[in-house]
Amino acid sequence: MIHLQDITVTYKDGTVAINNISAVFKSGEFTVLLGPSGAGKSSLLRCINFLTLPSSGQVKVEGLGELSNPKTLRKHRQKTGMIFQQHQLIPRQTALKNVLIGRLAYHSTLRSLFPLPKLDQCIALECLDRVGLLNKALTPVKQLSGGQQQRVGIARTLAQKPQFLLADEPVASLDPGSSRKILSNLRKICQEDGIGALVSLHQVDLALDYADRIIGLANGTIIFDSCPSEIQKQQLETMYQNSSLIQT
Ligand SMILES: Nc1ncnc2c1ncn2[C@@H]1O[C@H](COP(=O)(O)OP(=O)(O)O)[C@@H](O)[C@H]1O
Ligand SMILES: [Mg+2]
Repeated sequence: MIHLQDITVTYKDGTVAINNISAVFKSGEFTVLLGPSGAGKSSLLRCINFLTLPSSGQVKVEGLGELSNPKTLRKHRQKTGMIFQQHQLIPRQTALKNVLIGRLAYHSTLRSLFPLPKLDQCIALECLDRVGLLNKALTPVKQLSGGQQQRVGIARTLAQKPQFLLADEPVASLDPGSSRKILSNLRKICQEDGIGALVSLHQVDLALDYADRIIGLANGTIIFDSCPSEIQKQQLETMYQNSSLIQT
């Protein structure tokens, strides 16, 4: 369980990206963070592993403590996987080698200069299998489609054996068919492994179809937080209206 308490993020230029947000994220829950561009989705996600430091407030992780403690932060990051819109893979390396990067957190810097043990190779192959890409293990990722590359990125994150997943617009650059395939796969894996996930999206239809819980964000504030069946059209309209008012 991750507990955000009164989190505010103010950037150096004075922009308040997150305005006093409190929320609890439970293990095994697939939460979608929905909101228009500029709502604060990336800032909020990045606060959860301190890639962006909150200007005020606390992030507490059950069993570990507060992230402001460097030891806690290191342990938390080892167990928190991140998936980005741009998968940041090494294009000329094989899918397998890219996925193995997810295992590096479990080895010392010196050890990781040498080929990783068989167990790591097995975990990496199993992760590729779970995203349906075992047959592409030895293919350089530059030869894969955008959707396949994103699946390699997901497999790399899974190889880290995370307890919690942060995904920032993981399907933003993909066509609707690939987006659905990836989200349903990701959700299934999270359910099977009891991984808690916070996934930012800007597509309402995808959020309604795949989320256990949807948090609507506008101008750095949570404007609704409920299960998809309880969300009303009015709330969605407000979320997008407010943002366009601020942007003009
Ligand atoms: N590094 C930064 N410096 C200053 N302002 C930023 C920075 N990153 C984001 N912002 C601003 O913070 C707000 C929220 O941005 P962001 O978290 O990226 O939203 P989203 O991911 O929902 O598009 C926006 O107004 C954005 O312009
Ligand atoms: Mg963003």
